[in-house]
Amino acid sequence: MTVSIFSEITGVGHYIPQKTLSNDDLSQLMDTSDAWIRERSGIHERHIADLKEGTSDLGLHAAKEALKAAGMTAEDPDLILAATLSPDYYFPGIGVMIQDKLGARDTPAMDIRGQCSGFSWCLATADAFIRSGQYRTILVIGAEIHSRIIEFSTRGRNVSVLFGDAAGAAVLRRKESPHDIKTALHDPTFSGLIDHEMGSDGSGADLLAVTRPGCSSGHDSLITTHEAENKAFLPVMDGKQVFRHAVNRMSCAVTTLLNRHDVRPEQIDLFIPHQANIRINDMVRQKLALPPEKVFNNIHKYGNTTSATIPLCMYEAEKEGRLKKGNLLVTAAFGSGFTWGANLLRW
Ligand code: COA
Repeated sequence: MTVSIFSEITGVGHYIPQKTLSNDDLSQLMDTSDAWIRERSGIHERHIADLKEGTSDLGLHAAKEALKAAGMTAEDPDLILAATLSPDYYFPGIGVMIQDKLGARDTPAMDIRGQCSGFSWCLATADAFIRSGQYRTILVIGAEIHSRIIEFSTRGRNVSVLFGDAAGAAVLRRKESPHDIKTALHDPTFSGLIDHEMGSDGSGADLLAVTRPGCSSGHDSLITTHEAENKAFLPVMDGKQVFRHAVNRMSCAVTTLLNRHDVRPEQIDLFIPHQANIRINDMVRQKLALPPEKVFNNIHKYGNTTSATIPLCMYEAEKEGRLKKGNLLVTAAFGSGFTWGANLLRW
């Protein structure tokens, strides 16, 4: 009998910092309002990390929970993949920090820079490593502390009201199955990753970016005192352009992925889109002709947590009984870069 190698998500974890910041709280800090933020983004509140916590600490909590859910110890993963746009240090990345804090001695830890597509890309990369036969167990993590790189003032309001802090993680395990991809896709008793779509368009890099500190041309140091005093390290964003590209790229990524496998949208049990804006997700849902009950959103509670949104949704959807064993799940992400991705799997 021939067998194929697949990877399966065997545990998911999350971490939400305790402190909340409501839209009304924000309106005390800047010229904004609960009504404006709800209407334009769907966000009601977000969580903010404690000063005692760094991004790697948020990731560590999520990683520990995912390992526990998978019935594994820190020594079990052969590889750690981590995604963030808000690392503890400029370098190294958070992967090695989480590896050290976990006590996962000598396990290779790699950071993947896909911004809001980071977790989707980690899943695709982990799946490829497992299918290649190189690794059997991979821990993937998305963690962010945005609250330290945004400005809670009227100047920064177009960005700062949208983002929150959180982390999510998943454990992927190698499994062998008599199925090939086609039969796995149509067997609701199967559980495993099917396929992925990834894309980038660097011509959009400056439309959502933190450009300083950096080593771009024309600068003789990472950041000057003048730049630091003028907070040149804050994100810049053309919200309207980002919105338009997000709707197009996320819906195209899902359509491409589904078409590749002759899957019709009505065959999908659940769609988990990146949580950047509820209006983006509604438009993507309409383009895909999916009913609202097949889409999982939790942006109202957390805002945009970048690389953590998808595992956070997976975690909550499963807890709420919206995502059950064998369900056909599709995810979609879009972020700074521009980058985008989609994952197709049976839960
Ligand atoms: N509170 C109140 N007013 C605000 C505000 C805030 N937090 N932020 C911006 N405004 C103002 C603007 O200054 C503008 O004022 P003006 O008309 O006097 O110039 C007005 O509100 C409208 O701004 P506009 O940019 O037209 O709003 P919008 O409908 O495009 O919504 C976003 C703005 C940012 C919510 C929306 O463009 C968006 O979500 N884009 C995608 C962002 C994203 O998802 N980024 C991450 C991708 S991974």
